[in-house]
Amino acid sequence: MANVTVIGAQWGDEGKGKIVDWLASRADAVVRFQGGHNAGHTLVIDGKVFKLSLLPSGIVSGTLSIIGNGVVLDPWALQSEVEKLEAQGVSISDDNFAIADNCPLILPMHRDLDGLREAAAGSGKIGTTGRGIGPAYEDKVGRRAIRVCDLAHLDSLDPQLDRLCAHHDALRAGFDQPPVDRSALLEELREIAPFVMRFAQPVWKRLKKVKRAGAKILFEGAQGVLLDVDHGTYPFVTSSNTVSGTAASGSGLGPNSTGFVLGIVKAYTTRVGSGPFPTELDDMDGQTLGERGHEFGVVTGRKRRCGWFDAVIVRQSCAISGVTGIALTKVDVLDGFETVKICTGYRLRGKVYDYLPAHAADQAAVEPIYEEMEGWQQTTAGARSWADLPANAIKYIQRVQELIETPVALVSTSPERDDTILVRDPFMD
Ligand code: GDP
Ligand code: IMO
Ligand code: MG
Repeated sequence: MANVTVIGAQWGDEGKGKIVDWLASRADAVVRFQGGHNAGHTLVIDGKVFKLSLLPSGIVSGTLSIIGNGVVLDPWALQSEVEKLEAQGVSISDDNFAIADNCPLILPMHRDLDGLREAAAGSGKIGTTGRGIGPAYEDKVGRRAIRVCDLAHLDSLDPQLDRLCAHHDALRAGFDQPPVDRSALLEELREIAPFVMRFAQPVWKRLKKVKRAGAKILFEGAQGVLLDVDHGTYPFVTSSNTVSGTAASGSGLGPNSTGFVLGIVKAYTTRVGSGPFPTELDDMDGQTLGERGHEFGVVTGRKRRCGWFDAVIVRQSCAISGVTGIALTKVDVLDGFETVKICTGYRLRGKVYDYLPAHAADQAAVEPIYEEMEGWQQTTAGARSWADLPANAIKYIQRVQELIETPVALVSTSPERDDTILVRDPFMD
């Protein structure tokens, strides 16, 4: 098994970016396979902070970075992210960066629709990132999308624009909005096309070559399993499949290439946006987790909701995504708690559940059953070996892996790249 697939096992923001960056130096290519610039991944290297949304987290270490066909790509957001990173000293060229030519585009009309729908939904809104992700995926599945390869054929785009705009104009009329300004859109596409086309290629072919050469490929998931459009807390989910299986379809490599599935798991739970969250805390403990964990969204700056570790959802995510081992992150945020709690099951209408039921009303109504453990007063921040961890922190980690029925491969103890404990090397498995 030479390859590794990294996915989030909760509601996103588990620390995927940090772990992908840490693993990237051992990989020959890093591939994003779903989502878009709704993702926000923070890397900290020797105190320098890099925030990525669309670019694969391997770009900072100079590893070949690829945006696969499963991603929805906002070309303007990409351009500003590339410029921002170049200003931070990261080099990005067609040597180390490629975009799938069959990747669908996020256009301004998608962002408009995302915003209009959320505003109209009032308190029933999803709490999306407002990036146009859902509407762009709808157009992909509806066979109306404009794709990266279309940027090389803008003179013959009219029939596609007819179909796309007919759909959007009807929706916009329902929101009292004017039709799409087609000539302005075409002009904007003409301007951005050379920038995108520099990197566009059939990446499945490039990956085939990389694979044949025996290179190690790292697949980088965005969001988390509980935000998966099939397996998540529907309808409070994102519009892509976030599970490990998507690494194959979203990159153009077969399922026999995805290798070790590394689930990234935060030592407690957070969620940003609306939707059920059984272990959410509205008390001082929740506030402490948020403050110590700096739980604010990278993309929208929104405050993340915080709660105790929920072993039920992580066990479910690990099963659904075929997780081989987990990286347990932000253990240091639990330092100093007198006691820590783990949710081991749910109670619903007098019945005990060992899984999260599918119905939205049931998901909102389940009550967590907690197990309490003694906390630790020593600091784990910056620990780089088991020997640096206090006994109660080790007990907590062991209990987590027991309850989720999946072994721990890595432990992360600060935002810094090297503050990481390696238990089992995913690339050597
Ligand atoms: P991602 O979306 O999964 O990549 O995660 P985010 O980057 O959105 O959020 C994780 C946040 O936690 C970032 O600010 C990271 O710098 C930070 N982080 C990652 N691992 C650790 C850790 O072990 N300890 C602490 N204290 N922070 C961490
Ligand atoms: P990373 O990769 C956390 C959430 C949004 C909202 C829902 C739908 O950083 O872990 P969307 O804009 O995708 O239609 O929003 O999904 N969401 C995330 N939450 N981390 C993310 O990405 C997220 N990407 C989307 O907050 O609830
Ligand atoms: Mg994030």
